Amino acid sequence: MLAYCKSLPKAELHAHLNGSVSVRAIEKLIELRKRSEPDYKADDRVLSTAKAQDKIRTLADAFLMFPLIQALTQTSEAVTLATVEVISEFNDDNVKYLELRTTPRENTVTSMSKVDYIEAVLAGIATCSERLPIIVRLLLSIDRRQEVADASETVDLAIKFAKSKDARVVGVELSGDPKFDGRKFLPLFQKAREHGLKITLHLAESCDWMEELSEMLALPPDRIGHGTLLHNDPVHAAVIRENSIPLEICLTSNFICQTTKTFKDSHLDFWFSRKQPVCLCTDDQGVFDTYLSKEFEIASETFNLTKQDLFDTSLCGLRCGFAPKEELYAIERIWAQFAKEHALKYSSLRD
Ligand code: IMP
Ligand code: ZN
Repeated sequence: MLAYCKSLPKAELHAHLNGSVSVRAIEKLIELRKRSEPDYKADDRVLSTAKAQDKIRTLADAFLMFPLIQALTQTSEAVTLATVEVISEFNDDNVKYLELRTTPRENTVTSMSKVDYIEAVLAGIATCSERLPIIVRLLLSIDRRQEVADASETVDLAIKFAKSKDARVVGVELSGDPKFDGRKFLPLFQKAREHGLKITLHLAESCDWMEELSEMLALPPDRIGHGTLLHNDPVHAAVIRENSIPLEICLTSNFICQTTKTFKDSHLDFWFSRKQPVCLCTDDQGVFDTYLSKEFEIASETFNLTKQDLFDTSLCGLRCGFAPKEELYAIERIWAQFAKEHALKYSSLRD
């Protein structure tokens, strides 16, 4: 089944830039940093991300890894390199539509501003768009630890970049350590929506901050990241169903962080059986040592999914994308062609 999963055209909607860099990319980033700082010695732990499954056992462990990788993306050149590497790896895994997300950071030492950071990511996307058959869009992240003023700057930048010529920024998202309450950012998400941006929120990833859920769901978000525990509450589950909010489900990430105890315990089954739109995603493919085809294979093995089920899930992912519908329809031709070649059922939403 893995070969089939690799051959499937796929859409990846939940990929954090710095969490997605592989060991190979980290080595290149270390080399780059050494060029300007010959004595630079990378933290030993950063190179062991490929073995993260042995080391990361909780979400808190994962949050120790991110700053180590972010320490390697502190210049525009490094941010662009990381972006190109990450996109190339998704392309190698036959991902046709990718939404990358990242938290714009400034760095006073290297004089990188948030605008520089975003432009560096966009430069990486532009380079890949010329060379590779993959469409990439960008979501700007608000980190739950941020001050509102900091997050507000990010939303303003998202609005500005979304209106720029190539309009690759299509949304904003909330992520970061779930022990920090996200409610203070709600007015910012409202503002983003008023300016045409889409919104996805990491919600109910662990048991922390369940108090925020009713208010966050009332937004309502256009998609939900993880939503691991939401199905346990009938009121929350009803909001998701009534609004048909797609869930971005990251099996390996949830299992490694033990937010679901086994793959079988994943909420994927609950939502899948209720025909709720779900998208399989990787979250942090570098840190969690995974890739999207593997996530499809795990889903297939754990829940006895057929080739048709996997195709439908993959297509559902594309249709949940935040790019304008016309762009998504155009990309969907790849899925239509795959269905034809593999004698799978397919009906276009346009029909
Ligand atoms: P970056 O935004 O590109 O720097 O990617 C790393 C950041 O993504 C981390 O610092 C977190 O804020 C966020 N992130 C990555 N994985 C998760 C997750 O599983 N839950 C919540 N936030 C996450
Ligand atoms: Zn995430």
